Amino acid sequence: MNCIVTQNLCFSYPGKIEVFRNLDLSVACGEKAGVIGSNGSGKSTLFLLLAGLLAPSAGDIALWGKNMRTMDDFKAMRTKIGFLFQDPEDQLFCPTVEEDIAFALLNREVSRKEAQEKVERISDVLEIGHLAKRIPFHLSWGQKKLVALAGVLVMETELMILDEPTDGLDRKAGERIIDHLKSFDCTVLVSSHDPGFLDGICDSRYSLKNKRLDEC
Ligand SMILES: Nc1ncnc2c1ncn2[C@@H]1O[C@H](COP(=O)(O)OP(=O)(O)O)[C@@H](O)[C@H]1O
Ligand SMILES: [Mg+2]
Repeated sequence: MNCIVTQNLCFSYPGKIEVFRNLDLSVACGEKAGVIGSNGSGKSTLFLLLAGLLAPSAGDIALWGKNMRTMDDFKAMRTKIGFLFQDPEDQLFCPTVEEDIAFALLNREVSRKEAQEKVERISDVLEIGHLAKRIPFHLSWGQKKLVALAGVLVMETELMILDEPTDGLDRKAGERIIDHLKSFDCTVLVSSHDPGFLDGICDSRYSLKNKRLDEC
C-alpha cells in the first residue's frame, strides 16, 4: 500500500511564484524516502502541501489511499502524521523544553506519567535530557532543532515528514537520529543537504528540480 501519492500536483504562491507543475510522487508504507534539491527548489513547500498546511493549486494528494480534498480530510489524519518544520522556531513555544516535547502527547490525552516517561526516553536517545528545564527560546540553533525533533519523534506516528532535521547538527546527532528512525517501521519523508545522513536512512531518493520530482 502507498502511504503518499500525489498526481499532477501544481502549486504557486500568491504573486504567481510557481513552485510545482504536475508533480507526481509515490511513497510506499514503511518506505524511508529522501528529498534533495537546491535552496528554493520547493522541498519545504512540498512537505507543507502533504501535511495540509498549504492547499494545492491543482492536482491530487492521497494519504493511505484516501484523497485529501478538504482541511477536514487532513484533520482526520493529523494523529498519524508527525511534521518537523524547517525552522524550529515555528515549532517551539512552551516555557520549558520538557513541556514542548510533551505538548502534543498531552494534547492526545496521554497521561502525565506516561508522557513524562516518553519525553525522558526520546531525550535520552537525542542526548538532550540536560536541557529539560531550559527555555527553548534561549537554546542554540542545533539544540532547538533537536528539541523540535524530539517533540515529533516522541509521537511515534505512522508517517514522519521531516524538513531538514540535521540542519545545524553535529555528525553524532545525525547518527543517533538515523539509528532511532531505522528502529521502527514508520514511513519517513525527509529532506536534507547531508548525503551521509540520507545514505544512512533512505531506501529511495527523489530530486526536486525545475518544478518536478524525479527518483535518483
Ligand atoms: N510564503 C511564501 N510566499 C511566497 N513565496 C514563497 C513562500 N515560501 C517559499 N516561497 C518560494 O517558493 C519557492 C520554494 O521554496 P521552498 O519550498 O522553501 O524551497 P526549499 O525548501 O527547497 O528551499 C522559492 O522560490 C521560495 O522563494
Ligand atoms: Mg526548505
